[in-house]
Amino acid sequence: MRDRMKELKKLFLKTYGCQMNVYDSERMTDIMGNQGYTMTDSPDDADMILLNTCHIREKAAEKIYSELGRYRDIKSKNSDLKIGVAGCVAQAEGVEIMARQPLVDFVVGPQTYHRLPEMLEKLNVGEKVVATEFPVESKFAHFPKRLDDRTNVTAFLTVQEGCDKFCTFCVVPYTRGAEVSRPVTRVVQEARELVGQGVREITLLGQNVNAYNGPGSDGQGWSLAKLIWTLSEIDGLDRIRFTTSHPNDMSDELIETHGECKKLMPYLHLPVQAGSDKILKRMNRQYTAESYIRLIEKIRSARPDILISGDFIVGFPEEDESDFQATLDLVEEVGYGFAYSFKYSARPGTPAAERMQVSEDVKSDRLQRLQSLLTTQQKAAQSMMVGRVVDVLFERAGSLAGQMVGKSDYLQAVHVANCDVPLGTIAPVEIIDTHSHSLAGVLASSSHQG
Ligand code: SAH
Ligand code: SF4
Ligand code: F3S
Repeated sequence: MRDRMKELKKLFLKTYGCQMNVYDSERMTDIMGNQGYTMTDSPDDADMILLNTCHIREKAAEKIYSELGRYRDIKSKNSDLKIGVAGCVAQAEGVEIMARQPLVDFVVGPQTYHRLPEMLEKLNVGEKVVATEFPVESKFAHFPKRLDDRTNVTAFLTVQEGCDKFCTFCVVPYTRGAEVSRPVTRVVQEARELVGQGVREITLLGQNVNAYNGPGSDGQGWSLAKLIWTLSEIDGLDRIRFTTSHPNDMSDELIETHGECKKLMPYLHLPVQAGSDKILKRMNRQYTAESYIRLIEKIRSARPDILISGDFIVGFPEEDESDFQATLDLVEEVGYGFAYSFKYSARPGTPAAERMQVSEDVKSDRLQRLQSLLTTQQKAAQSMMVGRVVDVLFERAGSLAGQMVGKSDYLQAVHVANCDVPLGTIAPVEIIDTHSHSLAGVLASSSHQG
């Protein structure tokens, strides 16, 4: 605080991993903003470099070390430069990071970054700092007001963190800790702040967001559905989304909300991971392929046009060709509008890492086959949009003159040429063409709406 006006320092912050890291990076920006730091796009002129990292797969974690290595020259020219590692690699590896890369001055976990100001005091007197404990008090209680210099019309809002499910492949329960839901009033207050800054669409975030159970005004645990209905009363907030959901926490109440709440968008990310019951059991997912498919049917009968997206892992230990075939069969049956698929990556400390591994060649072959099927489905979902009129929330200018880019209700990117509307406008667009990752459209007259 004391030197804020005198010397503005520069922070270079790079974010890896999931949306929760994006949210955390914004909050770290707010915290560091109060400490006199402005953002810079280049590490070369930074006073602090902070990497907000992901530990989910080996490649993601290893990337951090190669990135850190690149800062050697910058640090040799500026001995005051502080280099920090935040996020899930920080949590998982802690002090080891400094042993492996001595350039690093501080390590801060995803549940401790509200303590950056006090860490800064130590860093400024030349100490190295590691803060990776899970504090009793939640970081959320310590956040400063959001800086209001952002111009985004969409925002992420973390409502739940951590995971108690312990899928046997996954590091998240270790890097993010136990499941915790934020109180309803705090979520509503933050949503209002965002809307006050021009945000029209909020995506509620949690590792298991549909297990949300935050204390409400009556002191009871409120469900995600109840939270969504409450948020839907905020004027100016036009679109609500949530991610990521676990199939087992998809309650009837939440499914009905998808059918009834106009502000809740028709898009649901519902990872299945695999289609073989043998593999699902070994993953500790606690559902079967059949029960997942029935669930999708139920969701589609509540909201027929909903677009389903998913995550898949191929080459989980002991997955044989017939198990993999079951994944392909499930994909055929469900029909995904969008999907992420990954080769299984053995993570230290997780039970699956101890089991018989599938060879890299087999994993690559299966990934390629799965992705080709998923791409076909995604293209079909895009093509189906041609000729339809959909509402688009315009988020930014496009790369061509006069072009604007936004998202449909179904989270598809839509490019519109000769589009003279202010950012944040929601307008009906007729889809005229598809590209590999986006749709092209023209503004439709409002009489087409609906
Ligand atoms: N909570 C979410 C997933 C969060 S992690 C859920 O339960 O679905 C995001 C995705 O990363 C997972 O859905 C999974 O597909 C993938 N993933 C997680 N651990 C992995 C590992 N060890 N190897 C490969 N992919 C992994
Ligand atoms: Fe990881 Fe499973 Fe928790 Fe998702 S539900 S974060 S995959 S342990
Ligand atoms: Fe990665 Fe941590 Fe998110 S491991 S996926 S950044 S919760």
